[in-house]
Amino acid sequence: MTIKKNNIEILNVSADRNLVDANLIQSDSDNFNDLNLRPQKLEDYIGQNEVKKNLSYLIKSAKIRNENLDHILLYGAPGLGKTTLANIIAVEMGVNVRVTSGPAIEKQGDIASIITNLKENDILFIDEIHRLKPAIEEILYSAMEDFAIDLIIGKGPGAKSMRLKLPRFTLIGATTKISQISSPLRDRFGAMYKLMFYDIKDINKIVQRSASLLNIKITSEASLLIAHSSRSTPRIANRLLKRVRDFAIVNKFDEIDQNHTKKCLELLGIDEIGLDDSDRHILSSIIEKFNGGPVGLSTISAITNEEEETIEEVYEPYLMQLGLMERTPRGRIITSKAYQHLGINLIKNEK
Ligand code: ADE
Repeated sequence: MTIKKNNIEILNVSADRNLVDANLIQSDSDNFNDLNLRPQKLEDYIGQNEVKKNLSYLIKSAKIRNENLDHILLYGAPGLGKTTLANIIAVEMGVNVRVTSGPAIEKQGDIASIITNLKENDILFIDEIHRLKPAIEEILYSAMEDFAIDLIIGKGPGAKSMRLKLPRFTLIGATTKISQISSPLRDRFGAMYKLMFYDIKDINKIVQRSASLLNIKITSEASLLIAHSSRSTPRIANRLLKRVRDFAIVNKFDEIDQNHTKKCLELLGIDEIGLDDSDRHILSSIIEKFNGGPVGLSTISAITNEEEETIEEVYEPYLMQLGLMERTPRGRIITSKAYQHLGINLIKNEK
């Protein structure tokens, strides 16, 4: 089964198993709005200027040569716009993008079926590409390098290998964990771009752009407040904007101002630097139980009841970005800045 929207095709390779990352099926209203909020052209994409500049050369050159784009690896924290960029690249190239994700592809047959159905110059977007199984990766090596796959027909001594030519396609891989991508796979990408956290000015522009697309009236002070609370992440900024919009609709405010936004953020448990209850719980648990660390990831997971992967991928990057937590070879350490933010006295304990 496939779900089609504009030039985006979300793949569900076999009907009996869900091969599609649930995050990529934009079915509820919030997610549908997210799709509509996503810029379609590179010029409408705010921030990530270095990546945009590089991509623009890559795209223009491929168009002049009339060839497919080199394979591209996008990496960075969740919500920074990897999927959005993949869609933009497809629109700019005027080709179709087929979307799937690492954990959704279980068997070699799945990946073979996806890539043999691609057309010349099509883009295959694999989200969470670090979660591909080694056997699947192996199929990708020759597909990416030689635009061919070797299929084994039959079993045992009679088995035969058959080389199948593929159309020249472009693989765009996205990952939050570049270190978990094997080097043979990494080496096959012609271009690799790291998406950084956004600065406040850019996030503010994104909030104002989204507000205008959603017909939300918002003061510049209110949008700036949302930007400051957004963990420097467009996906979170747009989510907060929508929650503040709900607050305004229910309370019958004509325009969202700073005061309404403050009240709504308070209701959501989000403070002025964008930390939520879970961030504060992680910081205060390490302070209270381990005098601020160093402490290992598995221990943090045990004392906070959060999964290691969630701590590593969702909470830590932003806490480190703000300078509230540091990673050392001996474990995680909470900084004096975090003590100050939480209003806890720092008692130094030499370890
Ligand atoms: N919506 C989400 N991310 C965006 C970005 N980087 N630029 C413009 N609008 C966006």
